[in-house]
Amino acid sequence: HMYDVLVVGSANADLTVRVERRPGAGETVLGTDLMESAGGKGANQAAAAARLGGRTALLARVGGDAFGELLLSAQRDAGTDVAPVIVDEAARTGTAMIIVSPDGDNSIVVSPGANAALTPADVAAAADVIAASSVVSLQLEIPMESVRAAAAAAEDAGTRVVLNPSPAPEAPLAPELLAVADPLVVNEHEARQLSGLADGKPGEWAHALRDKGARSVVVTLGGEGALVLDASGVTEVAGVRVKAVDTTGAGDAFTGALATRLARGDALPDAARFAVRVGAAAVTKPGAQPSYPTAAELDALSGA
Ligand code: RIB
Ligand code: NA
Repeated sequence: HMYDVLVVGSANADLTVRVERRPGAGETVLGTDLMESAGGKGANQAAAAARLGGRTALLARVGGDAFGELLLSAQRDAGTDVAPVIVDEAARTGTAMIIVSPDGDNSIVVSPGANAALTPADVAAAADVIAASSVVSLQLEIPMESVRAAAAAAEDAGTRVVLNPSPAPEAPLAPELLAVADPLVVNEHEARQLSGLADGKPGEWAHALRDKGARSVVVTLGGEGALVLDASGVTEVAGVRVKAVDTTGAGDAFTGALATRLARGDALPDAARFAVRVGAAAVTKPGAQPSYPTAAELDALSGA
């Protein structure tokens, strides 16, 4: 394979302000200086994979504006092949307005912009790249029919699919999409929503999602690590204790890291153990992509 990981997905400029507390309806609060940084769930996954040394490509759409330039240059710095990225002069680059509270948690509003114009035809045009990749990694910030087209093309080519159904959709996932997820990567909120089990425990969500068709499942649990369900059964991966500065994009770092390790032949539980460390490293620094570690930085952090 020419690439370990091809990410098909979104790219956003992240506009972040830290606040003491979130404003309520009709309220104004003052925050810190504005931080402009590279984000978007797809672009984040690609940056995480590339910085860790995975041979990575990104299929996304950005606008022909300054934010698009910012996102392209962040990908190049990370080491991603941006040849498949489409610069759409008719659209604005996707933008995320992000509020981070003192505990490091965030609230995000996304304006999709060019991401909304990534079509199944764009995916079809990248069929060769999909076939030349060990893993295709998907999220849900582009049109659902394009996600499904990418999953179907990967399935045809025998390329493994990693699917992070985020933002969590209101409607259930299409059975054909769920059926190729190997793994489906969900956080607790997505797990509750997609399993239909509002209560329950991670193991129950994972089994329910596999019963619905996912080939394997990873439930990410923030500071508590992750739970993996695959052919070898359930594996609980312990969390790594860190001080959370900004959790934005930590799940994307996890998924990009996981995809890279799966492409290199790791078993899912081993890949998840590695990805938990990467997610933990990402929450210790501000922003999404600016906080993603290289392999060397990760080793230094974990004393490994
Ligand atoms: O998952 C984090 C990402 O969600 C941010 O980078 C923001 O762009 C939104 O897409
Ligand atoms: Na971060």
